[in-house]
Amino acid sequence: MFKILAYKELSTEKCLVEASREDIQRAVLPWLDGLSEKYLRNIFGPKMPYPIDEKYILDSFGKTEKNTPFLLKENHNAVGFGSVMTQIKKNEKISWLCFILIAPKKKGKGLGHLLVKKLISHAKTLHPDSIKLTVYMDNIEALNLYPMHNFRFIRCLNDGKYLMKLKL
Ligand SMILES: CC(C)(COP(=O)(O)OP(=O)(O)OC[C@H]1O[C@@H](n2cnc3c(N)ncnc32)[C@H](O)[C@@H]1OP(=O)(O)O)[C@@H](O)C(=O)NCCC(=O)NCCS
Repeated sequence: MFKILAYKELSTEKCLVEASREDIQRAVLPWLDGLSEKYLRNIFGPKMPYPIDEKYILDSFGKTEKNTPFLLKENHNAVGFGSVMTQIKKNEKISWLCFILIAPKKKGKGLGHLLVKKLISHAKTLHPDSIKLTVYMDNIEALNLYPMHNFRFIRCLNDGKYLMKLKL
């Protein structure tokens, strides 16, 4: 006699959605609790006040004409954050991928790959001349991640960062 087993596959829906100021406040700020000054500056840059200033985060990373912040959601829960910022410099339209962050408890599960892939897809819809990002030279996790998505090293900047550009 055969026994028929029914397997219910749990679907994990993952999508990128625009983040409101309230989303950043509710979902992203708690991820930053307890992170070291150095770690936070790796993500948000050297000008970020420490201890964290909530208003600075919301003013800097909220939606503006040039900056669109996104949440990566998994089953409706926020698991990642990243921004696409547009700049026109010497007639070049540049889309910058910024503030890429996976919720601390969700790191190492492939979500960073997915977030970068989705941010690149969004940036491409803006038809930039180039897609770029910067990364601190000691941020090993991020330095491993970006070349896997076709980002190439352009040069060292004088603030301890590498400039990387997407090979289109
Ligand atoms: C960088 C970051 C976004 C990666 O997200 P993640 O979900 O942990 O990464 P994934 O599980 O998708 O792994 C992506 C790749 O990152 C690299 N990586 C991830 N964790 C790593 C670790 N502990 N050590 C070295 N490389 C690592 C690997 O190359 C990995 O690819 P592979 O597993 O196929 O070899 C995440 O670690 C993070 O939020 N870091 C803090 C914020 C930050 O520094 N952001 C970058 C600012 S430029």
